[in-house]
This record gives sequence, C-alpha cells and structure tokens, in this order.
Amino acid sequence: MSIAPQTSTRVDQFFTVAEARLDRWRSLLQAARSWEGSANQQDPEKVNHASNTLGIFQELLQWEDFFAYPGPVLLKTLSERIAGGDASGTVRLAQSISAALLTHSYRTNLNDWDSDESPTSLGDRLPARSEDGVRHRPYFEVLFVSPARPAVWNELADDLRKLRRPEDAFVYEPVFVSNFEDAILGTILNGSVETVVIYEGISFASSRNNPVLREFLTSHLLATGGVGASRQYALELAKAVKLIRPELDVFFLSDRAVEKVAGDISADCIRRVFYQVEEPLELHLSILDAIADRFQTPYFDNLQKYAQRPIGTFHALPVARGKSIFKSNWIRDMGKFYGTNLFLAESSATTGGLDSLLEPTGNIKVAQQKAARAFGADHVFFVTNGTSTSNKMVEQALLAPGDIMIVDRNCHKSHHYGAVLSGALPLYVEAYPLTKYSMYGAVPLRTIKKALLDLKAEGKLDRARMLVLTNCTFDGQVYNVERVMEECLAIKPDLIFLWDEAWFGFARWSPFYRRRTAMGAAAVLERKFKDPAYRRAYDEQAKKLGPDLDPKDASLLDTRLVVNPDKVRIRVYQTNSTHKSMSSLRQGSMVLVKDQDYHTVEEQFHEAVFTHASTSPNLQIIATLDVARRQMELEGYELVNRAIQLALDLRREVNTHPLISKYFRILGADEMVPTEFRNSGFVDYLTPGSNWASAVKALREDEFALDVTRLTLVCGSAGFDGTQFKNLLASEYDIQLNKTSRNSILLQTNINNTRSDIAHLIKVLVEISQSIEKRFADGGPEVEEAFGTRVKSLMEDVPNLPNFSRFHNSFREDSTSVTSEGDMRSAFFGAYREEQCEHIKLSSPEIDRRLKEGPELVSANFVIPYPPGFPIMVPGQVISAETIEFMRKLDVKEIHGFNATLGLKLLKPSYLRMAKMPDKREAVDESKLQPAA
Ligand SMILES: Cc1ncc(COP(=O)(O)O)c(C=O)c1O
Repeated sequence: MSIAPQTSTRVDQFFTVAEARLDRWRSLLQAARSWEGSANQQDPEKVNHASNTLGIFQELLQWEDFFAYPGPVLLKTLSERIAGGDASGTVRLAQSISAALLTHSYRTNLNDWDSDESPTSLGDRLPARSEDGVRHRPYFEVLFVSPARPAVWNELADDLRKLRRPEDAFVYEPVFVSNFEDAILGTILNGSVETVVIYEGISFASSRNNPVLREFLTSHLLATGGVGASRQYALELAKAVKLIRPELDVFFLSDRAVEKVAGDISADCIRRVFYQVEEPLELHLSILDAIADRFQTPYFDNLQKYAQRPIGTFHALPVARGKSIFKSNWIRDMGKFYGTNLFLAESSATTGGLDSLLEPTGNIKVAQQKAARAFGADHVFFVTNGTSTSNKMVEQALLAPGDIMIVDRNCHKSHHYGAVLSGALPLYVEAYPLTKYSMYGAVPLRTIKKALLDLKAEGKLDRARMLVLTNCTFDGQVYNVERVMEECLAIKPDLIFLWDEAWFGFARWSPFYRRRTAMGAAAVLERKFKDPAYRRAYDEQAKKLGPDLDPKDASLLDTRLVVNPDKVRIRVYQTNSTHKSMSSLRQGSMVLVKDQDYHTVEEQFHEAVFTHASTSPNLQIIATLDVARRQMELEGYELVNRAIQLALDLRREVNTHPLISKYFRILGADEMVPTEFRNSGFVDYLTPGSNWASAVKALREDEFALDVTRLTLVCGSAGFDGTQFKNLLASEYDIQLNKTSRNSILLQTNINNTRSDIAHLIKVLVEISQSIEKRFADGGPEVEEAFGTRVKSLMEDVPNLPNFSRFHNSFREDSTSVTSEGDMRSAFFGAYREEQCEHIKLSSPEIDRRLKEGPELVSANFVIPYPPGFPIMVPGQVISAETIEFMRKLDVKEIHGFNATLGLKLLKPSYLRMAKMPDKREAVDESKLQPAA
C-alpha cells in the first residue's frame, strides 16, 4: 500500500510496490531522456540531468534486490552506462526494462533478459525457448533465503537454472536474500514470489534502514507469536512468511539434524525439509509439484476433458453439445456469441467425472477441499445460487424454531428470510447510524454484549444460538472479528457465528485484512486459546468477576472479556459471494466452515443443502469457483494489493484534485467510522504520516476499520442525489455501480480494475465538475442559489434513520421481556390469509390517527426501500411514527414490499388478538419415546 507521498524514498514505506516501482522506472526513463536531450545539445543542464538519472536509479536499486527481473546483470549494465555518461544507452535499456515490466513480457520473452548490445551473453538464463507459443508455462519467482555470500548468488542461480527440464509445467527464477528482515520484505513486496526456500543459519537484521518494517515486525509478528526469542531465525521466518502469505510454499534446508526439524510440530508450516547439500533436483521438483498442487483445478480440468469427448446425450438438456443451437435456423447467433465450448461443457449428467454438487464424492469434493485449504476453513461448500442461498442454508442448518438469532437489522434480506424459514426468533441489534449520509455503519460490540447479557439475565442465553453480522458491510465497515467473537464467547462459550462476507471473500489474500475475516480471526483465536498466558488471563478474570459473569454488572460492557479456554467451542461459518470479488461467474458463492462441533450438525447441514440447492446446478459456475480458488492461491495477493492501491490512488486523486474536490469527496475512515471506534488514534490512510505499520496497528486494535476498496463518493455536494448520479454515470459515461444513498454513491475497486479505469473516472469527474461551473457561469447567481438550495436539501435535510421498534406482543413470548426477539415467522405466514390483512395508504390521516389512538399498526411484510436497502419494517413489527415519517420523506422509487396505490400492508387488529406465539416447546419426555416393551 503506497501510503507515503510519491516523493518517499524508503522501500519499507510502501506496501504494494508494483505500481510505485513501475512509476519509478518510468521516471528513470524520463530523466534519462532529458539527459540524452541535453547531452546532444551541449546543454549546461546536462550535469544536473545526469545526476538526476543517477539519483532515481539509486533509489530504484533498493527495490530491485527483491525481484528477479531485470536482475543483477542488466542492472550492472545500466549502472555502467549511467556512470560512463552513456545517455542514449541508458535510455535504450531503461526503455526496454520498463516496457518488459509493464507488460510482464519478461516472464516469457528471452530477449527481455538481454541488454540491447550483448544479446548472447544471457542466452541460457531462462528456458524461455519452450515459451515459443507451444504452451504457456506460468512464470513465478522463488525467494531463496541463504546465508551464502552474495558473491556466489549468481553461481547458485545458474545451478538452479540448469535443473530445468523441457517437461516442467512452470518456470521460475530465483531471488536471493540473506536475512530474516529482507526475506520478509521480499515476501511482502514481490507478488510473483510463490515459494520461499529457507536455509538454516541466516541472520536476522537487514543492512537496510527499514524503521517501519522493524516496527511492524516487533508490533505485529512478535505479538502474533511469529518471531520468538529463540535464535532459530529460519524456523521463525517460515512461520512469519506463512502469517503474511499463508498460500506460499515454504521449504527448509538444513545441514544438521533434518529429522529433528521435520519432526518439530511447530514446523507444520513447512512443506518439506531437505538436507542442504543433497538432492537439488528433488528440491526443484518439489517446488514445481507444490505449485502444481495449487494450479490443479480438479473440476475445471475434468470439465475441459469432458467437453472434448464425443458424447451422445439422451438427458434433458438440449443445449448440451450445442446441436440444437448451431444447426438452428433461428438461434445460431447464440452459438456464435457464446462459442462452442460453453455448450460442449454443458451437461446434466453427474457421471463421467462431473460429480454431483449435492453429494460430491469426486472432483467437486477435491475442489472443495482445495478451497478449504485456500480459505483456511475445515470445509467448503460450493453454492451456485448466490450468497442469498448460502445464508439461508447455514441458517436453516443451524437454527431450529424457537432458537434466538442475534442479527444486525441492517443485514442482507436473505438473513431475515432465513429467520422466517427456520422459525428462529430474530433479536435485532442496531448498527451505528451515519445519518448524514443516510446509511448505517456496523453494530457496536457493546450493543451485542448487552443483548447477550440481557438474554442471560432473562434465563434465555441457552437459546441464543447464533450471531449474524455482515463483514464488511456494504459500505465498507470491517468488524474486529477476533474481538467480537472472543467477547461473545466469554458470555456464551458455544455461540455460533455466521459472518456474511459476501463482499469480503478477497480479504483472505490481504495480510492487512485477513485477521478481520471470519476464518482469519478463527485461526487467531484457536492459537490464542491454547496459549498458557491466555489461560492465566482467564484465571485472573475469574478471580475478579467470578467464573459465571453477572449479567446485571454493567461494567462488563466496558470490560475486555476473556474466554474460559476449557469451555469454549470455536464455531464459525462464513458465506461469500465469490462472484463479487473473485473470478467466478455470477451466483458463484461459498460457505466456509470452521466448526469444532461440525460433526454434530453435519446431517442437518446436508438437509439444508438439499433444501436450497438446485438439483440442476450450473456446471460453469462450479468450474469457475474452482478456478477462482486457483487464481487467488497463486496471484490473489498481488491482485488484491493492486485493488487496494488503486482505491488509495482514487481516494487521493479525488480528494486533492483542485476542481473535483470542490464538488465531490470520498469519505475517509474517520468519516465512516466514528472516533469512539478508532482507539488506536488512526485517522485515515491518506493522513500525512500514515504508513502500513500504523494501518496494521489500527486493523489490530480498532473496533471498526474501513475497507479502502469501498469508496463512498459524496455527490450531494455536487447537487446530485445518489440515484440521479448513478444514472448519469451509467447513461453518459458507461460507468456502472450498484449502491447509492441519498447523497452518495458507492464505488469499489476489485481485482479486475486497472489504472485506466481510475483515469477514466477521474476524467469523468473533471468533466462533470466543469459542467457545474459552466452552469454557474452561464446562468449567474440564480443558478448558483438554486444549486445551493439543492445541496442543502441533499446534505442537511436528511431524514433520521428509524430504529427497529419492536415486535407486536402477539409475536413475543413475554411482553415484559427486555430482549426484543420475536416470532417473525408466525407474523409472516399470518399475512398469507387475505382476510387477516388490511391496507392503509401512507398519506392517509388514518395512519396518523392509529399512531395516536391505536390500535397499533403492525406490518404484514418486509418493506425494503432501495436505497438504503435495509428493512424499515419486518413482519410483525409495530410501526412507529419515526418509520412513517421516514417513509413519507423517502424519495426513492424502488420500495420492495410496498405498493403505493394500495398502501401499507398491515396485519388486522382482529387477527392480532387471535394470533398467539406458539407455546414454548415442551421438554421432550424421553421415556415416551421408548418403544413399548
Ligand atoms: C451482505 C450481503 N449478503 C448477501 C448478499 C447476497 O449475495 P448474492 O448476490 O451472491 O446472492 C448480498 C448481495 O448484495 C449482500 O450485500
């Protein structure tokens, strides 16, 4: 993440080096060109240009040690040209290197490794001859961390290249570093590194000046058990590398008792241990084999083979093999548009290695196991009907009628429907409002703890089975997942968590965000609960607060609670819309499971899958889920970092552009997350002085953080409401987005975006800003005044967001209860009888009369306006005056569950008098279940 200003020189100031490095190569080229120009014209500035070129080159060198290309030979040539005053030669070489880096052509093109004048000197560097179009061999880099003297690195690299064989499926180049710190930098900076080979005997400190890295190492890795006090840096390094990039393969070369290292249980992060001088070919093959393991996509690979087989189909899927299409008189264009492969790969069979999504035993099973490894889960289920379905599956599997589900009211509607389907009673918790922007943030931990403690006080804690939260929220607020789970588990040690990470699946591949994902945090907690120091902390707490927390003790809300490690069960589920942030076709989704007690719910889990999954799942979606996993395991780190970098660039450009920033602004972390939730003092990524160590600190400590890839662009200050601006961008500029608020739109960057996209958006914002200024210039003060009024209305006259009122007493077990859970399912089905419902128009005075005099207005269904997209009414909810006021002020057209002509759909008071919440289930008398003797 390039948080530092562009002038920064220290390599550890940057997180994603890729773009910054390219920029510097281009700066070098520009400087060299100026130098060349001045040299030709005998310009007196020549000396300055030469020294500028040298300065940029020297700055670049600190990055280049961590990359295989251009490598020491080309860099030496370039350095000699600069030192020798050869401006034209410098331009030529800088030009070819920067072009090769930009296009990645060096990964396949042998010539890129040659300096222009000595084309034969490097002839055997890369086995690129086999890249001659016959087949593409993916290229990667291997970081060798070796105590050997740098003088012998070239020789070692040559020895490695000699091991290459034509049949190798992949090709790699080595990068050498000699110590722990440089190895960490190499792992962080070089996204092409896929493998780290660590020799024993390395030293710790880098000779570079890396204060930010040091701070990160001591505050982050040390704290997470990465770098211990021991001097076994090699093993510590292996662990640290896996903490930063768990997908990397780590090999260990030792010249002592290798059996001991291999047998060390803390060495489970190492893929294989070698005796140092033995078997270099074995190491080479192991490196390739490990990459093949990640590269292999069992389902997709088999589907491709299947598509090539001559198969007669007598099952019900006419498009399979495409014969109904390609020969058709009328729909041939469909075949032309999609191409043959799509239809050759269509089948309704589950034979021929295609496996069955509902009961996988073959390729799908293996593909899911690989996904589990990649995402850090125990089990993964592929889902082909979107996360809307994944959520309902998990909820139906784990919740029974009468269970209490604590859930963010602002969550996706699938969860509300999940409550209806399962019969669980939702206990809604409120997110903090960002009224100014007509949106919600996330649910404060205090609110969640209060809900749990209240349930405990009322003797209902045992029924609180699940907590459902959206991480990150649509607008980008990210929970401190670890802390939320830890403190909730301190109150209820077997609480199940469902983290809806519909938008956040990619976060696994960012070391920044991983800790704030469901799986990342579950892994942290797993380690933490085993730590003897943690047990001591719990004992301390038990001494102070007693073994059983007193729910009436209000100080618990502000106490950082510790879990009883003997009682706790880690039960974490995550759903993610793989299609939203990775290369999966639309509706591709996954359920990730990390549940110690999964075996106790496995059967019902399968039932839920059977309930919701189509029996005709789309094969292409399954295949792309498999491929999306491959991509993320091999290049997710690089791609995600780039998406983050682009988001930061966009933020900076918009907020500092002299014209754009007069009318538009992208909200920073400080505006999306109120101060009280940022204990670390972190303000925003763009605040001067922020660097990646301060960002990591904030991500570790703060209650909420902002996912920078989700950018709330305020457009109300330019006189546009969100929907209007969204439509303008779509119709005039071909820019698509999907979420808006009253005065903002939500932009997001993902692994698909490029710098050109950012440039396009900036250009568009400049144009729109210019057109506003032109309107002022042409229309004079009246136009400006009208503009001011419109801006004020959008930015200041914002309706208050209504909180959840309560369920009607008919749907509550006990109307005096402090906790607000209710039987939404009965209310929902109550509305299925027309005679039990009534409609009243929103503008009717009858509404106001009923609000004042009763009987209470009770919603018969969900009412969800877009935007903001959360249910302002749910079935069984008593409608408050605030909700009516909000609805009357709403100026959006799309309101699901509300027909303006008919009015609000309500449950009739006569029905409500009859409706009774189902009696509490009676305890089952086991003896009655025994078969008669
Ligand atoms: C938080 C959240 N969860 C779940 C979903 C549903 O995901 P899908 O579109 O994959 O069905 C969405 C969709 O926008 C969402 O925002």
